[in-house]
Amino acid sequence: MINKVEVSTPGKLMLLGEHAVIYGRPCLVTAVDQRMKVIGEKVGGPGITIDAPDVGIHDFEYKPGDGDVPKGVRFVVAALKNFGWNGGLKITTASEFSSEFGFGSSSAVTVGVLKCLSELSETKLDNKHLFDLAYKSVLDVQGVGSGFDLAAAIWGGTLRFVTGGKKIESLKTKELPLVVGYTGIKADTTTLVKMVSQKREGSYGIVEEIFDQVESLVNEARVGLEKGNWEQVGGLMNENQKELETLGVSTIELSRLITAAREAGAWGAKLSGAGGGDCMIALADKPKVIGKAIAKAGGVVINVSSGAEGVRVE
Ligand code: PMV
Repeated sequence: MINKVEVSTPGKLMLLGEHAVIYGRPCLVTAVDQRMKVIGEKVGGPGITIDAPDVGIHDFEYKPGDGDVPKGVRFVVAALKNFGWNGGLKITTASEFSSEFGFGSSSAVTVGVLKCLSELSETKLDNKHLFDLAYKSVLDVQGVGSGFDLAAAIWGGTLRFVTGGKKIESLKTKELPLVVGYTGIKADTTTLVKMVSQKREGSYGIVEEIFDQVESLVNEARVGLEKGNWEQVGGLMNENQKELETLGVSTIELSRLITAAREAGAWGAKLSGAGGGDCMIALADKPKVIGKAIAKAGGVVINVSSGAEGVRVE
């Protein structure tokens, strides 16, 4: 019988295709080597305790049936409900990355908790089943999302992904020469997704045309990634950034870091994720030079490696 288990899940970066992925187009995502740790331990009695100090939650006692729970434990509680967990439990989470970066901490936690529960109850869950439970949990909490971040947390590597996990393909790529710059501003994904949805409704098909354009960029970039043609992928990232600017999700702060990276010689640069803040990414052969330029423009450089391993039992 297993009484205690520790699992870890990687964070993620969207490479190309954000927003369009919600509307049935593919996106490209890579898992990064900064990880979320989740420890699950069976305890006596019926109580469930959640300790998530990174998000200000200290030994929160959850009683099944509790209606309103603090923001920091919502994804854990949704995962417990969807798994159908019964019995005493302590869940502890610890992240190597800040929840402010947009590296997908909520998704990483959701996957980590479900993986712990499956191990503790000795229930075999294949990756697709794990994805479906995690996706339902995320939709229960935030109502919107494609689930690309869950796929990165589960499968790891670099993926081509279609909303809801309709298609998840692992790409054969080398380590990507990525430079990541954080704007210092936390973005609210749900608000940005709703904003794009409203624009789409009143756009007489123009936003759909943008999404079609993004789909072509994603499909070309997939080929470029598999060939290691970074110059080509960089150019496609620049094109994708233009489309995101047209959608109105980029910001002055993101543009400043993106322009600095390009002027310093990056093959390409764009925002990564919903926009509105969080991180930008650049593809470049001189990461130190690009990193310096990003820092000079006010960004915080985050060192990550791409294509990290998916969820694993430690
Ligand atoms: O803000 P992030 O890093 O969670 O990325 C959001 C990407 C969107 O395509 C806008 C939403 C989604 O779930 O795919």
